[in-house]
Amino acid sequence: MAATGVNNMENERFLRSVINASPNAVITINEAGEILVFSRAAQAMFGFGEAEVLGKNVSMLMPEPDHSLHDGYIRRYIETGKAQIIGRARPVMARRKNGETFPAVLHVSEFDEGARIFVGFVEDITRQKATERRLEDTQLQLQHAGRIGAMGEIATSIAHELNQPLTAAASMAGAVALTLKKTTFDGKDDALALIDDAVAEIRRASGVIRQMRDFLRNRETERAAHPINRIIEESCLIALIGAETEGVMVTSALDDYAGAVMVDRIQMQQVIVNLIRNAVDAMQETRNKHLTIATAKKDDTVEIRIADTGTGITDEMKKRLFEPFATSKEDGMGIGLSLSKSIVEAHKGEIYAKDNHPAGTVFLVALPAAKDDA
Ligand SMILES: Nc1ncnc2c1ncn2[C@@H]1O[C@H](COP(=O)(O)OP(=O)(O)OP(=O)(O)O)[C@@H](O)[C@H]1O
Ligand SMILES: [Mg+2]
Repeated sequence: MAATGVNNMENERFLRSVINASPNAVITINEAGEILVFSRAAQAMFGFGEAEVLGKNVSMLMPEPDHSLHDGYIRRYIETGKAQIIGRARPVMARRKNGETFPAVLHVSEFDEGARIFVGFVEDITRQKATERRLEDTQLQLQHAGRIGAMGEIATSIAHELNQPLTAAASMAGAVALTLKKTTFDGKDDALALIDDAVAEIRRASGVIRQMRDFLRNRETERAAHPINRIIEESCLIALIGAETEGVMVTSALDDYAGAVMVDRIQMQQVIVNLIRNAVDAMQETRNKHLTIATAKKDDTVEIRIADTGTGITDEMKKRLFEPFATSKEDGMGIGLSLSKSIVEAHKGEIYAKDNHPAGTVFLVALPAAKDDA
């Protein structure tokens, strides 16, 4: 069709129209990084007119560090043939004329017209990012609500848990006062030992409070390498409050070599707390109440195992287990497992349940081991 018999001029006009019709910015550069084509969408996106950019170095469209490094990127590619970016789409930061930076997806192709030419297609993803951000915020708020909910359920046990060490500490301090009043100097060692005990009890109480405060804080996510066993221990401090009085026997089998995971500590605690609370709930009516919490390292994975001897999960519930609002409990929200799953998957991990034998349920969480730990 049109291609036959058109002269060069028409050919070029045709090409220009195609380029200008693209909703994404089209920018071509030569080996020196100089801009050769700057499409209409590019002009709208970056705020530069064509005349302001033609022949200029394309790095003017990038913030640091790419701004300074871009010439090096091209040189390295030409010398080594090793492409970091050519042929695939990747997220970058770009800079408009007014200095504003924005997130974009850049796709670069290469062709040879006697000299090498690179053509970049740039898509401004500011709006997508904002939507993602809002979704993330909602997710965080939901998680926060979930933690407050979990705390609410165990509020009475918490009072008990705090009351116990504080009462003990108070009576120890009282005993010290008595000893000091009646004695001579001989009672000193006894008194000191009692004070040490009292301090330890007060520390225990404030440990519970600190853990609760951390857990309930509304916060941004922050990932770091944390020893998995420590996360489990901190979670147990909250999740097992009251469990003993309910007659649950707890076995903890934490692998000394389980190592660290790259996680948001509080989010991961939230997962463990949910799983432990579910396990304890499931054993309310059963005679045998045995909870096992274990960690293990398997190749590049750290596995957390929470097993109970409770009622087990009904077939009906198994189908919807991780769906939001699936609950069999009168006072349940049914969000514990759906939140846990989203948290685990955000950490590139897996969570699933299987039957425990002879009775009960096992929940398994597998997380990638932190790299430097290997
Ligand atoms: N260890 C378990 N044993 C038996 N059933 C379980 C176990 N864990 C979860 N379930 C079942 O899965 C359902 C969903 O669990 P999930 O934690 O999502 O919600 P919930 O515990 O009902 O309420 P919430 O956690 O929001 O307070 C539970 O209602 C229960 O029926
Ligand atoms: Mg639950």
